[in-house]
Amino acid sequence: MSFDQREQSHNLVMEGSVILLGMRIILDEIRTSSDGSDCKSLSKGFVSAMLVLQEHYRLVVSEDDEGIADYGLVENLVRQSGVAIQFNQYLNREDIAYTIHPGHSVSFSHRQAAEEVSSTLPGTLTLHFHNYRDIAAWIVSHPQPYRQLEAALADGAQKIRDGALVAFPTETVYGLGADATNPIAVEQIFAAKKRPLYDPLIVHVGDQKQMDSLVTEIPERAEQLMKRFWPGPLTIVLPKSPLVPSIVTAGTPTVAVRMPSNPIALALIRLSGKPIAAPSANLFGYTSPTTAMHVHQQLGDACAAIIDGGACTVGIESTVISFLGETPKILRPGGIDQQAIESCIGPVRSDVEEVADASMVSPGLMPSHYATTTPLWIVDDLHVYASRSDVGVLLFGESGEVFHGPVEYLSKKADPAEAANRLYQAMRRLDGKSLSLLVVRLLPETGIGIAVNNRLRKAAVNTASKKN
Ligand code: TXA
Ligand code: MG
Repeated sequence: MSFDQREQSHNLVMEGSVILLGMRIILDEIRTSSDGSDCKSLSKGFVSAMLVLQEHYRLVVSEDDEGIADYGLVENLVRQSGVAIQFNQYLNREDIAYTIHPGHSVSFSHRQAAEEVSSTLPGTLTLHFHNYRDIAAWIVSHPQPYRQLEAALADGAQKIRDGALVAFPTETVYGLGADATNPIAVEQIFAAKKRPLYDPLIVHVGDQKQMDSLVTEIPERAEQLMKRFWPGPLTIVLPKSPLVPSIVTAGTPTVAVRMPSNPIALALIRLSGKPIAAPSANLFGYTSPTTAMHVHQQLGDACAAIIDGGACTVGIESTVISFLGETPKILRPGGIDQQAIESCIGPVRSDVEEVADASMVSPGLMPSHYATTTPLWIVDDLHVYASRSDVGVLLFGESGEVFHGPVEYLSKKADPAEAANRLYQAMRRLDGKSLSLLVVRLLPETGIGIAVNNRLRKAAVNTASKKN
């Protein structure tokens, strides 16, 4: 739904009166106090979100989960928190408006009779969020989630055809989209982002036919990658066809194309009937957006619509691979790691650091990107900053250290994929706290950790140069 439509949502009649929760999600929210008393309670974020939701819905724990938990403890903690969650309730399927799953994801289904369904969306949609507060906000503003998303998509597709800018979620980050075949529409992307015209855009396709129309040839290994990783976070650079205006490719004879896997992104492209040129929906050089609210904060005025599909699951941008040379070359590490690519097509190059002027190959590789406004330093020893209340810390893995400044976990369990998912959100949260400095240690250089480190290095270089 676009932000414009959000105000109208209170006029809609709610579909379904129940939000179903698994017992597991309550168990995950149990916290033990650190004052030595061993006192247990439910996390504040969870409780306040449930208090908001219970104003509108009945909260019910699913019966299937009975066996797995210490029922008595959970019931007690729920009662103490003041949240009205019901246990052991019989439910009709039609009563269920939403199901909340572990890992901050939420699913809902279309409610039309089967013969009425003409949607480009799958029958059941699962959206992901960064936290329970965002879940509550989305649910409250979407009393008819499926219909509202369909309406937002129809509206967005029309606006794309009309040459306007529409921001939409992908599995990597939110994109700022325009009809890739309309140079005037594409020009607005550069103006809105304050992006230099020499930095080419990625074109998003919804099917193979669109892909074929954009490029002059598809080498076999590119074809293999497309088969294996599309739809998904992999962008392929190939010689462009005359259909692609030169503003999209910054005058180069090549075009970068990807087919996103996010169902909302795919539906938008397919409904519009146009390939969609879309960079990340942030001001040039700054941290990429992983929620609709992030887009709204930086580019709200420039967008004809922002389709709110929750948080992006991968959380960092796609891998960009070029097929121009003899050996395919990774121009930007991202959602699909080099090992996965090599297991599909054999050896590739990724020696971007060797290139003297990386901007000539792929301007997104310039060492000034993804930045916070607060300086970000990559450090070896976070301990040095532990006593500084004006320093924010990005943490990977559980730390025994007590930090006086605010801390954001990239991943408590030291999972690089979770760190990627949370990176930009965590950077933005600390950036909003008026601190003097943010510090972080690099992740181990393997898998998607390589892409996370790539973003951290660029964000750090940029902020360091801003200080000088
Ligand atoms: O995950 C993503 O790729 C996101 C979502 C929205 O799809 N998009 C994204 O776009 O990250 P952007 O504009 O922020 O980054 C595009 C990257 C830049 O590094 C750009 O230089 C490179 O792709 N690129 C685009 N076209 C290219 C081309 N023809 N040759 C080489 N590099 C190209
Ligand atoms: Mg970008």
